[in-house]
Amino acid sequence: MAEAGKLTIALPKGRIMRHCLGVLRQAGLNLELAGMERALRHDAGDASLIEMRNGDVPTYVELGVADAGIVGKDVLLESGSRLYEPVDLGFAVCRLSLIRLRGVRSDLRRVASKYPKLAARYLRDVGSSAEVVKLAGNVELACLTGLADAVVDIVETGGTLRANDLEEVDVILWSSARFVVNRAALKLKSDQLKPLISSLREVAQTVGR
Ligand code: PRP
Repeated sequence: MAEAGKLTIALPKGRIMRHCLGVLRQAGLNLELAGMERALRHDAGDASLIEMRNGDVPTYVELGVADAGIVGKDVLLESGSRLYEPVDLGFAVCRLSLIRLRGVRSDLRRVASKYPKLAARYLRDVGSSAEVVKLAGNVELACLTGLADAVVDIVETGGTLRANDLEEVDVILWSSARFVVNRAALKLKSDQLKPLISSLREVAQTVGR
């Protein structure tokens, strides 16, 4: 379980990490990570930080190993977790879309995705009986190679689509980074979490302006 005193916060590794640290610092946390580049766990001043694949953040928070975390709404919906989600941080804005080779509109038989549950729900909603195949990354390749007739994947800048002659056929949902909180921690560490939530809400209002 999370440490008794300090907050433990789960953060996604990679490009988004720097942005997460930025908003937490803007919200008033003193976080020092000097000299720990390859470490997965950081005793970082005001909080303990644990770094993981974004898809694992909901699990660490739900099971109480982390008191809180930052994760994309797309990942949160795919995980099915029902975490308390008090702040839309407003960065890492992207959309989950149905993507096909430019101009191709044949019936869907197989769709590949890193988001198999959301893809299956979308296909059900549009009355398609296409099979969903789960892939781990570079999902657009499934369209290019004929593994699938379409993919359900993230579009952020659209650069991957343009570079591979793909097009977005339907936008399924919009996503952005969310601050999520373990419900027991919200009670046990309310003296730390409630002010942090208020500050993050203020910080979020300035994001994108
Ligand atoms: C994501 C997503 C797309 C790409 C979209 O992949 O799966 O491939 O970014 O971004 P764009 O619209 O700005 O081009 P990511 O780079 O996270 O790698 P992955 O596919 O290996 O998970």
